[in-house]
Amino acid sequence: MLSFSGPNERPDSPASPASSGLPTSGLRSDAWLGGDDEVALNHRAALRAAGLRRSAGSRGGRSRGRPLIGIACTASDLNRCDLGLTALAEGVRRGVRAAGGLPLRFPVMSLSEDLIKPTAMLYRNLLAIEVEETIRSQPLDGIVALGNCDKTVPAYLMALASADIPALIVTGGFRVPATFDGEPLGSGTALWRLYDARRAGLLGSAEWARLEACLGQGLGACNTMGTASTMAIMAETLGLALPGTAVLASGDPRQSELAEEAGRRIVAMVADGVRPSSFLTPAGFGNALTVLAAVGGSTNAVIHLCAVAGRRGLRLPLRQFAEVSARVPVIADVAPIGTGLMPDLAGAGGVPAVLAAVASQLDLSVPVATGATLGESLPPGPARWPLGELAAPVSTLPAFMVVYGNLAPDGAVIKAAAAGPALLRHRGPAIVFHSYAEMRSRIDDPLLDVTPDSVLVLAGCGPAGMAMPEWGNIPIPARLLGQGVTDMLRITDGRMSGTGFGTVVLHVAPESAVGGALARLRDGDLVSLDAYAGSLSVSADLSGREPVLPPVRDVRGWPVLHRMHVTQAPEGCDYDFLQALTPDRLAFAEPVIGRS
Ligand code: FES
Repeated sequence: MLSFSGPNERPDSPASPASSGLPTSGLRSDAWLGGDDEVALNHRAALRAAGLRRSAGSRGGRSRGRPLIGIACTASDLNRCDLGLTALAEGVRRGVRAAGGLPLRFPVMSLSEDLIKPTAMLYRNLLAIEVEETIRSQPLDGIVALGNCDKTVPAYLMALASADIPALIVTGGFRVPATFDGEPLGSGTALWRLYDARRAGLLGSAEWARLEACLGQGLGACNTMGTASTMAIMAETLGLALPGTAVLASGDPRQSELAEEAGRRIVAMVADGVRPSSFLTPAGFGNALTVLAAVGGSTNAVIHLCAVAGRRGLRLPLRQFAEVSARVPVIADVAPIGTGLMPDLAGAGGVPAVLAAVASQLDLSVPVATGATLGESLPPGPARWPLGELAAPVSTLPAFMVVYGNLAPDGAVIKAAAAGPALLRHRGPAIVFHSYAEMRSRIDDPLLDVTPDSVLVLAGCGPAGMAMPEWGNIPIPARLLGQGVTDMLRITDGRMSGTGFGTVVLHVAPESAVGGALARLRDGDLVSLDAYAGSLSVSADLSGREPVLPPVRDVRGWPVLHRMHVTQAPEGCDYDFLQALTPDRLAFAEPVIGRS
């Protein structure tokens, strides 16, 4: 039971903690709730409806021992990936109560990868700001953040890295795959393949409609190694989610047990002062990059991890992703790189099994969310399909390759294991689209002068230009699909879905909107990629050409702020004022607490 001390217990205090903002009993919330003045009394009264009670016989004063735990949740009818979180939030609440904390739920914006246009990436930083500022401005001692769809977990990681109060993330699991023509449908990956089949005349309208019904089944995240799966795995690897939570089907009974456990655990973390900064260390990020390479994760995770690290004053150079990928092969036979789906990875033991399989490449001394070290937490036993071994990888190509050159002076990323090995060393004439609309209008034009050797380029969709939609895996022109062409070299300053595949050079930096070389590229320019040598270049001299810049569509609102402050992909597309690249920026300023 919550107890309050009377005012006489602090005779030496010149002002109430509520007025001074000074915590007195180790809980951050004491700055709001402690004391006997009108401010503290009003704060306590405001939380009475949420269950805050004073102990019998007490006359007012500060709280002792019962931490206030925020429960952030992205559940929304606009986001089927996150709808299952409502039930899990209840589980967290039960756990918090059982451990003696006071659970306080609050909704946060839900970032639906399916529906938000031009891309949920435009709002990742907004969600991060919302969560960070909710923590800053409210009497929360700890937080459990529930999210699932692609941008929710990265936004949480960024916010929690900055706020640095005890925190756990609970993810909602993957959708159970529907079956289409006898095959389980991998989210995203199957759609991109079947869209090509339809454009090649191999899939009729009836099948197309049946596909829509199949893809609409179920709640939860994409069931391939898309961005949501990847980032859930990253959260667990980093120690910000309980072991075993990242790879479960939505609705699996173990989810609600783990949610309850997260509620209990966060109360203990508050008592022990365990903060995200304990996990978001160079060693922790080193492990995350290792696991990212081993599972063949989404290229979007490269951007997100750079952003999270930047919040802790750390830099993850693109070359580090390439180096780790060269050392740690892909061992998860999961689409889009492999053949299995997330249910298969769940059956093999999820993240703990992945960690055990790559243990020789990990720093086992880092802490995990339970309080144990990673080394103490690894399960015994050999890996089972779809997990392989480091000595017998799924692909001879690494998860990621990074290229530089006069087309990408600051680098670009390739999901190499999902690419065509022959196309990773390729030279061909460019066909350049300077906008998505231009690409969609020209790509299937019978007059488009395209051959399998052409290099399709989509510019104008970088972080400042368009907030980086997942437009990078440009559809193969229908005419070539009809000839049996299934892959071409493509280049973009945008992103690609984690469920995507093909030989696509992504995240070209700097982007065309800020003067990058893609803005000056023209049809017919000879482009050379040698991913094995790490190079991407064009033979033409572009310096005298006028750049083609993406049009500025938004003149008010959030997109304007985004454009003003977003950084380039190698910096994680975070906002410049949110990064902590100098030590003073690591400080989390508490609010002045008094009358509102
Ligand atoms: Fe939400 Fe894939 S669309 S996880």
